[in-house]
Amino acid sequence: MQTVSNSIIVEKVKHSKIDKVDFNNLSFGKYFTDHMMVCDFKNGAWEVPRIVPYQPISLDPSAKIFHYGQSVFEGMKAYKDKDQNVWLFRPLENQKRINISSKRLAMPEFPEDYFMDGLKALLKLDQKWIPTAEGSSLYIRPFVFASGCGFHASPSDEYKFIIACSPSASYFAGKVKVLIEEKYSRSANGGVGFAKAGGNYAGQFYPTQLAVEKGYNQVIWTDDNNHEYIEEAGAMNIFVRINDTLITSPTSDRILDGITRKSIIDIAKDENIAVEVRKITVKEVVEASENGSLKEMFGAGTAAVISPIATFGYQGRDYDLPEIKNSYASTLKKRITDIQYNKAEDKFGWRY
Ligand code: COI
Repeated sequence: MQTVSNSIIVEKVKHSKIDKVDFNNLSFGKYFTDHMMVCDFKNGAWEVPRIVPYQPISLDPSAKIFHYGQSVFEGMKAYKDKDQNVWLFRPLENQKRINISSKRLAMPEFPEDYFMDGLKALLKLDQKWIPTAEGSSLYIRPFVFASGCGFHASPSDEYKFIIACSPSASYFAGKVKVLIEEKYSRSANGGVGFAKAGGNYAGQFYPTQLAVEKGYNQVIWTDDNNHEYIEEAGAMNIFVRINDTLITSPTSDRILDGITRKSIIDIAKDENIAVEVRKITVKEVVEASENGSLKEMFGAGTAAVISPIATFGYQGRDYDLPEIKNSYASTLKKRITDIQYNKAEDKFGWRY
């Protein structure tokens, strides 16, 4: 059946597949809800967004996404509180950022009202899919890609914007072991590192595979120049605690302007934690580990939330982080997730 709500066309599934999913055994991004939002860009304009049953899409083999990788995405989450109310966290930041990413890849910007109205209509339909178990949420993946045809290496004239949702558990199961990268680079000045471009992630897979073969979960990316500075991890921004100061790299052409990252900076300041946004050298981190002043390292991102790092590897040696009581990671994780799950006052006005 087709209904039109607030100028969004809605086609509901005949039979939900929710009973086929074991909500006690979710992993990250493996199962998908009944519906998805789709919007096509054709003849220089976005058409009316549609909500349709989640399904495969058909594309011409010459679609430019396959050849030139013109595609960007976002990561968001929907949370359910104990009264079954549904919450988003700073969704307009994601809406703005997908357009910043799109612009860098010569793709058309997506209108704010289509983004927000489509997302709300989708969540209303699929709200039963939002898991309630501790640490779980509905991971939301808005993405745009070049669907126009032709081998000419130039921007596409047609695009698809899609929002798909996946009931998900934590991204990392436990503490994380990372390898500080000494050879490969994720991004460079003037490049696309700040954008959430699909290709940024594809380029990381091979070096990450090499790190996984050595027993690490993720790579810590260093600057492309001399591999002297710690910049970010593939799926997360990076924070380092030396003595009582929390340090994270400034955003740049090379580093993603993470929404969790900037929220953590604000919460840490609110906790009267000394925060420094500045370049961090690998040398400084290694020396701090050796002299005992390196107290914590953690990654921060939508999917990863706050993921404490247990060990980092560098130049063939592993450095273990100490076990800390009342760690910054646990304090900050509790503060941010309490806001996200509506368990505490939201003095920043981030809950939506
Ligand atoms: C997110 O944190 O939402 C991301 O986009 C990272 C992704 C690679 C899982």
